[in-house]
Amino acid sequence: MEYTTIIFEMKARYAIITLNRPDKLNALNRTMLEEIDNAFRQIELDDNIKAVIITGSGEKAFAAGADIRELNACNKLSGKLFSEFGSTVMNRIASMRIPVIAAVNGFALGGGCELALSCHIRFASENAKFGQPEVNLGIIPGYGGTQRLPRLVGMPKAIEMIITGNNITALEAEKIGLVNAVFPLSELLSKTEDFVNLVISKGNVAVSTAIDCILASQELDLSEGLAYESRIFGNVCGTEDFIEGTNAFLEKRKANFNNR
Ligand code: COA
Repeated sequence: MEYTTIIFEMKARYAIITLNRPDKLNALNRTMLEEIDNAFRQIELDDNIKAVIITGSGEKAFAAGADIRELNACNKLSGKLFSEFGSTVMNRIASMRIPVIAAVNGFALGGGCELALSCHIRFASENAKFGQPEVNLGIIPGYGGTQRLPRLVGMPKAIEMIITGNNITALEAEKIGLVNAVFPLSELLSKTEDFVNLVISKGNVAVSTAIDCILASQELDLSEGLAYESRIFGNVCGTEDFIEGTNAFLEKRKANFNNR
């Protein structure tokens, strides 16, 4: 697929997806959502890709929301389909078994905030702003914001953000746990890549398996989740990486994982 609204870049062992409609502050139109979806399908099929970074082009926006021009044409039925399609894309991202990191380089509003929420980790530049301004447009978040935001930052902050439509700064976002760390804009991508390189230097099977269990914690009650973890822990004890990792420790050397 030829991409027109994103840049899909392969590094040695990870991919970078750059939302690329800077003149529209990277607003998520239908084409961009389809391209993001396609890029993630491609990534799912490629065992060499061990992590994904999503960022925005330009210095102003990660994504300023769903495309309001397209949204404006929605009625009851097409509005539901609009939301369902966006949610499908967000779910695909959220359920990836390799780390997906949002490098939020400016406005992350509405669907842009929801895209960031779908990632496993968020780093932000100092100029980043997060918000769910949909009430200003007479609508509600439609790509998972009412569900993922309260799970991430707690009910009171999520309600405050969603019913006021007010933006918060990167530092406020860090304070409430919405972002993991804040960096100067000029360092955002390199710091994110440092993080990715650190994670992919670990046993990749263990990383993916840990993500799988952590995602399960969102769906299962505690006793089911603990049983799930024990079952998966047993499986991990059967991997070559487990043998290598534990032997390397006992032999006082660095582990050389082969990701099996
Ligand atoms: N959908 C479609 N176009 C958008 C957009 C969106 N969500 N957000 C910004 N744009 C477009 C603007 O229409 C403008 O296009 P134009 O130059 O063809 O008129 C361009 O991007 C630049 O935006 P502009 O509003 O001029 O920049 P600004 O610096 O003055 O304001 C924002 C920045 C983010 C505060 C403002 O663009 C905004 O409020 N955007 C909408 C945010 C929103 O409600 N998102 C939720 C959507 S559900």
